Amino acid sequence: GRVCLAYSGGLDTSTILKFLINDGYTVVCFLANVGQEEDWKEVEEKALKLGAEKMVIRDLQAQFVTEIVWRATQCNAIYEDRYLLGTSLARPIIAREQVRVAQEFKCDFLSHGCTGKGNDQVRFELAWLALAPTMKIIAPWRNESFISKFQGRADLLEYARLNDIPVSSTPKAPWSMDENLVHCSYEAGILEDPDHEPPKHLWKMTVDPLDAPDKPYRFTIQFEKGIPVKVVTEDGKEATEPVELFKLLNKIGHDNGVGRIDIVENRFIGLKSRGCYDTPGLTILRLAHVDLEGLVLDSKVRELRDQFCTISWSRQLYNGMYFSPEREFVENSIIHSQQNVNGLVRMMAYKGNAYTLGRSSETSNLYSEEDASMDSLSTFSPLDTTGFIAIQAIRLKKFGESKIAQGTP
Ligand code: ARG
Ligand code: SIN
Repeated sequence: GRVCLAYSGGLDTSTILKFLINDGYTVVCFLANVGQEEDWKEVEEKALKLGAEKMVIRDLQAQFVTEIVWRATQCNAIYEDRYLLGTSLARPIIAREQVRVAQEFKCDFLSHGCTGKGNDQVRFELAWLALAPTMKIIAPWRNESFISKFQGRADLLEYARLNDIPVSSTPKAPWSMDENLVHCSYEAGILEDPDHEPPKHLWKMTVDPLDAPDKPYRFTIQFEKGIPVKVVTEDGKEATEPVELFKLLNKIGHDNGVGRIDIVENRFIGLKSRGCYDTPGLTILRLAHVDLEGLVLDSKVRELRDQFCTISWSRQLYNGMYFSPEREFVENSIIHSQQNVNGLVRMMAYKGNAYTLGRSSETSNLYSEEDASMDSLSTFSPLDTTGFIAIQAIRLKKFGESKIAQGTP
C-alpha cells in the first residue's frame, strides 16, 4: 500500500519513513509550511534519499492566518487561562492538506510521528477521520512491532546508523519543539521537571525581556469586524496583507520580549504536562482585540461570548474537534458578535509586555462620554438608581436576614 507520512526531516520521522519502506510500503512524504523556520530543500533531499516516492511541501501560511488565527483573535481564544493554543491552531490546516495530498497521490494510509501520550495524535487523527472517514491510519508510536523495536532515542540512533539515515551533527536541543507562525513550543526533556527553569537560550521567537530595548515601541492596530486589517509602527512600517501583518506583530513582540509563558497544562488524554511557549504576535493582538471590545461590544453579548464561544472554541481546537458540528455552530456566533468590532487601538510594547494607550471607533455608539461623565447629569437621572439598588437588594436583604438568624453575620 501507499502511505502519506507527515515528515519533518527529524530523527523520529526519518526512522518511521525507513521503517515503513522496510515493511513494504510506498511512502509519499508531506510537510506543511505553517511559518516555521526550515531548510525545505534539505528536508526534501533527505526524504528522497531515504527512499520516499515523493516529498510534497505546501505553503499553508495564508490559510492558517485567515481561517484560524483571525478566528482565534475574534474570540480571544485561550486555554486554561494561559495558553494561546499555538500548536492546536495549526493542526486542522495541516491535517486537511495532508488528506488532500493523500487523495491526490492515491494513498491508502495516513501516518504521523506523534507520541502515544500527546494531544497531537488525537488532533491529527480526529481531523483525518472527519475529512476522510475511510482512510486507514498508521500511528507507529502506538504500533506494537514499532515500539518493541524502538524503546528510546538510543534505538533510533542505532537504527539510523544501520540504515544510513543522516543524523544532524549539531546535537538536538534537550527538549521537543513545535514551531509555526503563531508560536514555538518547548516541552519534554529537561523541561519535564516543572521546577526546572527554562534556560535563557531556549526561546526562539522572543528576546529576553531583560535584553529588550529600554525605550517603548509604539504602533497601532486597526480592526474590522474583529479582524486586524492594518498595523502601522512609529518608525513607518506598515502592513495590511494578513501574513505580512501577522509577521510584523511577531517582530514587534519578538524584539520587545512579549508573549512568553511557562505552564503546566492538562492534556486531552488526561496527563498533565509542562510546556513553555513564546507567542509574540498573537499575545499583542489578543490584548488589542480585548481592549477594543471593551469600547464597542454589548455587555451581555460579551458575557455570553466569554462563557460560551471563547471557552468552547478554544476547547474544540485544543481537543482536535475542529472538523465538527459544534465548531461550526460556535463559529457562527463568534462572527456575529464581531459586527461592531471596528476601530483603532494605539499600543506600545516594552520589556516583556504590551500596553494599550488609547482606542477609538466609528461604531462605538454604546459608549458615550456624556453618559459616563462624572461632570454631567444631563442624560442620566441618578435618582433612578435609588430604585435600581432597592430592587436589586430585595433578595440580598432576605439572604442577610437568614444569616443573622443563624448567628453568622
Ligand atoms: N502542549 C501543546 C499542545 O498540546 C504543544 C504541543 C507541541 N507539539 C509537539 N509536537 N511538539 O498544543
Ligand atoms: C507529542 O506527544 O507528539 C507532542 C506533544 C503533544 O502532542 O501533546
